[in-house]
Amino acid sequence: MSQKDKINIQQLPKHIAIIMDGNGRWAKEKGEDRLFGHLNGVESVRNIVEGAAELGIQNLTLYAFSTENWDRPEYEVTGLMELLVETIRKEVPTLNKNNIRLHVIGDISMLPAMAKKELDEAINETSTNTGLNLIMALSYSSRWEIAHAVKKIAEDVKQNKLQPGDITQQTIQQYLCTSQFPDPELMIRTSGEYRISNFLLYQLAYAELYFTNTLWPDFRKENLYEAILDYQNRERRFGKTSEQIKQEEITKS
Ligand code: IPE
Ligand code: IPE
Ligand code: MG
Repeated sequence: MSQKDKINIQQLPKHIAIIMDGNGRWAKEKGEDRLFGHLNGVESVRNIVEGAAELGIQNLTLYAFSTENWDRPEYEVTGLMELLVETIRKEVPTLNKNNIRLHVIGDISMLPAMAKKELDEAINETSTNTGLNLIMALSYSSRWEIAHAVKKIAEDVKQNKLQPGDITQQTIQQYLCTSQFPDPELMIRTSGEYRISNFLLYQLAYAELYFTNTLWPDFRKENLYEAILDYQNRERRFGKTSEQIKQEEITKS
């Protein structure tokens, strides 16, 4: 029995977020350049997006490039941007075939013009798809996103569109880049690092965190199924007691 068959399809996480980490170490293990790791990481992206869509996951966010990653050596940044442009261009027909809609979150103004153009086109060309929302976090960091949201809130207060007294947690949620998506219920990080690295700090408030030593270029559908099964075996209490949660389940059924 494959791990896939053990997954309870009724209880899939509505949103999975992944920190795709370990490309550089994967390449180094093979005596190759870091860019070789990124190139092979694209194959994992394809496989995981396909796997998530097949299962019926509604939202998948992939952390592909952080604001801090701009500080990497220039050849690596340039290589990553070229890989991005090339991959998007190639993948649009597959996204459309699989009814996948592409979204981007992050400071897109930092991207090279060519990458921005390719992204805009891909977002447009997939905009009527109704299946999986594939959300690429590019030039993204959570603190950038929060600062950006606060700036927009302040502008709306200044223009009298919003009263300070009316600001709630929902208001903040609406000003984040992820306003149209539910919060991730499962966050996966590959490569054995146990940190969040400035990813969705607000949205991950109650996410289940899953860490695996597998390096991103080795991560495949079976690894995704493992993570989902682990998630489904957890009790999510949201501050309540275990007894309350069990009682709620009985009442529901
Ligand atoms: C993740 O792999 C991809 C990006 C951050 C762009 P890394 O490039 O961080 O790989 P390691 O962590 O150095 O192995
Ligand atoms: C986080 O990975 C960013 C992405 C996966 C895109 P990093 O490799 O940049 O994170 P740190 O530096 O290990 O925290
Ligand atoms: Mg890394």
